[in-house]
Amino acid sequence: FLLDKGNHRHFMAKEIHEQPEVVAHTLSHYIDMAKESVVLPGELPFEWNKIERVSISACGTAYYAGLVAKYWFERYARLPVEIDVASEFRYREAPLRKGDLALFVSQSGETADTLASLRYAKEQGLHVLSVVNVQTSTIARESDVIMPTLAGPEIGVASTKAFTCQLSVLACLAIAAGRARGAISDAEERKLVRALIEVPRHMNETLTLEGDIEALARDLGKSSDVLYLGRGTSYPLALEGALKLKEISYIHAEGYAAGELKHGPIALIDETMPVIVTAPYDSVFEKTVSNMQEVAARGGRIILLTDSKGAAEATMPGVTIITLPDMPSSVTPLVYALPVQLLAYYTAVALGTDIDQPRNLAKSVTVE
Ligand code: G6P
Repeated sequence: FLLDKGNHRHFMAKEIHEQPEVVAHTLSHYIDMAKESVVLPGELPFEWNKIERVSISACGTAYYAGLVAKYWFERYARLPVEIDVASEFRYREAPLRKGDLALFVSQSGETADTLASLRYAKEQGLHVLSVVNVQTSTIARESDVIMPTLAGPEIGVASTKAFTCQLSVLACLAIAAGRARGAISDAEERKLVRALIEVPRHMNETLTLEGDIEALARDLGKSSDVLYLGRGTSYPLALEGALKLKEISYIHAEGYAAGELKHGPIALIDETMPVIVTAPYDSVFEKTVSNMQEVAARGGRIILLTDSKGAAEATMPGVTIITLPDMPSSVTPLVYALPVQLLAYYTAVALGTDIDQPRNLAKSVTVE
């Protein structure tokens, strides 16, 4: 990995474009391509069927990767997951069961709150597994076992490629847990793994939509507030979208579970506030569409990220659709991350902010 921007204007753009490659690279360390099965690169110091609960903690974007993983562990491994931002986990004195699993997600491996949570979990007698990008980091050193992301150095303060690599590793972990616990069959595992193998291809296809996203972003830059909505594994994506936009464009943005729209944010809807909806055509798509109708009925402007089936069903006034490739719903968070990142990136480009070094933010927060 050369530490220059190549032919990109910012490290962030370079890192967004690297994702098909680094995700493929990361997956190749966790998947036996011929057998279409997950093979973890390290030996686990515990047995999945002795684990009753997984506690995930992380900060920022890594926390949202953990939130997606909660859906996966619960769905594929029938394993209950609790998740917290590390700054809450470390102080809230959660009752933890000795021998359960504490999972930490961190790009830098140096985030102070995540590290403190790790030490707390260790003291409580939990197994400590970390998904880290910097393998020489303190979190990596202090963990019982690490599952590395192979994203290479990430320079842009706003995390992009580390996020999708974290999702890749977490997906493989959830599949491995599901198999070990007898929660998924070999055929189901093969199906999930095949879907992961196809992710870099879908990412490349999605990157061809860059021009359309750039055009939308010019408009987004004129707003003072933006709302992101999603359900299921698209809910953490909505949170991540809002975070990315805030971080680099300084536009106020909020991510919400679409079903919570009527419990508050609907009061904000008018023709000036864009609503970005991440909604692949999955088992909760129809529910999200009814939330979109509530927005449209109030004159709201919607940008919908969906696939061909979703695009065909979501024809309503005020909707601009970005049509992503069709893919199994198990992998949509990995691919939908790209347009979400690009929207934030091009909005910031339009506004002329300091994208790789946004004001007041640090790449790695090593103090509390
Ligand atoms: C900072 C960075 C974020 C990152 C977060 C967690 O806030 O600006 O991009 O997601 O820290 O960092 P970590 O290194 O633990 O993943």
